[in-house]
Amino acid sequence: MKKIFIALFVFVALFRLETNAKEGMWVPLFLQQLNEAEMKKMGLNISAEDIYSASKASLKDAIVIFGNGCTGEVVSDQGLVLTNHHCGYGAIQNHSSIEHDYLTDGFWAMNRSEELSNPGLTVTFLVEMREVSKAVLEGVIDSMTEEERQKKIAENTKKIIAEEKIVDGNQVIIKPFFSGNNYILFVYDIFRDVRLVGAPPSNIGKFGGDTDNWMWPRHTGDFSVFRIYADKNNRPANYSADNVPYKPIKHLEISLKGVQENDFTFIFGYPGTTNEYLPSDEIKLITEIENPVRIKLRTLRLNTMKAAQDADPEVRIQYAGKVASIANSWKKWQGENNGIKRLDAIAKKQELETKIQNWVEADAHRKATYANLIPSFQEIYKKLSPLRLKNQYFREAGMGIEIVSFSNQFSRLVELVNQQNSETEKIQKACEQLKISSEAFYKNYVPAIDQKVASDLLAEFIAAYPLNQLPEALQNIQMKYSGNLEDYTAKLMKKTLFVNRLAIDEILSNPSKKEIKRISNDPVYILAKSFSKYGQKINEEIRDLENQSISLRRQYMKLQMEYEPAKMFYPDANFTMRIAYGFVDNYSPKDAVKYEYFTTLEGILEKEDPSIYDYVVENRLKELHKTKDYGKYVDADGTIHVAFTASNHTTGGNSGSPVFNADGQLVGINFDRNWEGTMSDLMYDPDQCRNITLDIRYCLFVIDKFAGAGHLVDEMTLIK
Ligand code: ARG
Ligand code: GLU
Repeated sequence: MKKIFIALFVFVALFRLETNAKEGMWVPLFLQQLNEAEMKKMGLNISAEDIYSASKASLKDAIVIFGNGCTGEVVSDQGLVLTNHHCGYGAIQNHSSIEHDYLTDGFWAMNRSEELSNPGLTVTFLVEMREVSKAVLEGVIDSMTEEERQKKIAENTKKIIAEEKIVDGNQVIIKPFFSGNNYILFVYDIFRDVRLVGAPPSNIGKFGGDTDNWMWPRHTGDFSVFRIYADKNNRPANYSADNVPYKPIKHLEISLKGVQENDFTFIFGYPGTTNEYLPSDEIKLITEIENPVRIKLRTLRLNTMKAAQDADPEVRIQYAGKVASIANSWKKWQGENNGIKRLDAIAKKQELETKIQNWVEADAHRKATYANLIPSFQEIYKKLSPLRLKNQYFREAGMGIEIVSFSNQFSRLVELVNQQNSETEKIQKACEQLKISSEAFYKNYVPAIDQKVASDLLAEFIAAYPLNQLPEALQNIQMKYSGNLEDYTAKLMKKTLFVNRLAIDEILSNPSKKEIKRISNDPVYILAKSFSKYGQKINEEIRDLENQSISLRRQYMKLQMEYEPAKMFYPDANFTMRIAYGFVDNYSPKDAVKYEYFTTLEGILEKEDPSIYDYVVENRLKELHKTKDYGKYVDADGTIHVAFTASNHTTGGNSGSPVFNADGQLVGINFDRNWEGTMSDLMYDPDQCRNITLDIRYCLFVIDKFAGAGHLVDEMTLIK
């Protein structure tokens, strides 16, 4: 079965152009066949088998999915895990209050009993992966419609998964690769008792905040420390005081040597999503239509939220997580648009399409199979583009109003209660779930902020479309208030039950038909229903087109591979384990400017500004700097190195990923990409794309010297 996959990659590493940067996120399963020779040539000193092995302990056994969207790595035989500060952010924020502000002050467990549990947080190990393309595609034929195809694939997938022998804590999933030309099965072990061990203060862990985010030069100590707990058999278990630290199959060795320019490095983790093989029309849609609107709408939200945070320290904590995540994509989209323009990516894609089309037409057989493929994209995108734009307004403007998306969660309960023979058990369960989400919602909700956001977002939504193309509720609002959304939202907030936690709690404790009526008559709920009806309608219209486009993309993927048989293709990221490799490298972002590949403690002091929350430098850190109390974490140049850039191809999800040197020792924790390189999700530019890695020595320096938690470093395996 492996052959199917490899045949598509076509291995000709020898013909590849030599550059200092390496595009590609490779599947560890095929590392030996596809990448090992090249990696060794570039400097790797260990074998592919040491990195990923199906049969013996390898580096892969120390790499985890942290939570739902990050990577982490095990660094001690007591289950200690390192990840980014921004990956542990939710957990740190949850344990924070004005009295114990761990976000601002940091948190360090000085012994095991002080480690804090985090219900819902998981750490996931990969047990096994194997290619199952043939079994998944069994009975799938070309003449099927996309729906028939998906149905058959779902049936096959279910059957394959049912045949897996699994134990408690396991999860089996099958994911498509190369747009559904191939499939791989993954078996995971999911640990559910993960405790917070340490986090630096925000002015280290988030130093530079959203201003420095996505930028180089960078000085963020973006790490946090957790520990995995297991039952007495070393298996996953729910939180219990009786659980013990997990004994891993493998933990990483940590190098104290640092990195030099042009050193070989590789990164191992869970990149989320890339789209490197898209047609030009899709890139156009994303960068020219979708991104500008989402950027504009998020700017409005962020302005309001940040102003409120500046005015009130409690609001700063409450909105910290929300603002960080809204701002993160907002800023990335801007970088992405710049990068796509700078690369002239749309023209490049169009050029490729023309060449491929000519190549297709030059051969009768190819012509018969593919002649209509590329032209069909244009047809589809003409119809798809306006719908996708509407969808952005629905999601970013409609559901961007916090209370609207919260109230929308009540629709299932309303339905259940109003059913003819409603089932008490189901209703109870729905209420329990809603109690949990209201707990989280009200803890961090400030109605005045949301009111201003609602007023701004609705104004944009209404201005973007003629009346008859708006959701029904917005048509009514516009007719009644003719543009005076401040007035409307003030009334809305005054009338709605959803700002009243007690009332909502009461209803959830006694969800009678009469009480539920109060919800279904609520103006916020009515607004949410109108939005979701609108969203559903768009989705129905989009679905058919998307199905056509999915099928075209799968064929186009295959066509691109046939057109360039000498090229080594890697599958787009899909939140499965990948390896990327490259070199420690500087870059030149613009004419006459060249960036050094590393930053130091000196730079933190240069950036210091006591009047700005994100640029405060702790006295303790200044003291360590003044006395040069750097211990074994000092670089040969006499200072502390904070972060470095390298040409490893990464994306969101690679946060927290271990970065290794040629010997497979941990040299850093990946946490970002550079602003000039954020278009790499759509098109990689070896000249500009760099991943940003926290130097592991700064991380250890902060744990040991700054926080006085050297007992954690003692647990680790350091290589001098
Ligand atoms: N840009 C990084 C990533 O995509 C870090 C995000 C968290 N930091 C922040 N300032 N919002 O996840
Ligand atoms: N910060 C990103 C994350 O959370 C990694 C940076 C990137 O997108 O490359 O995964």
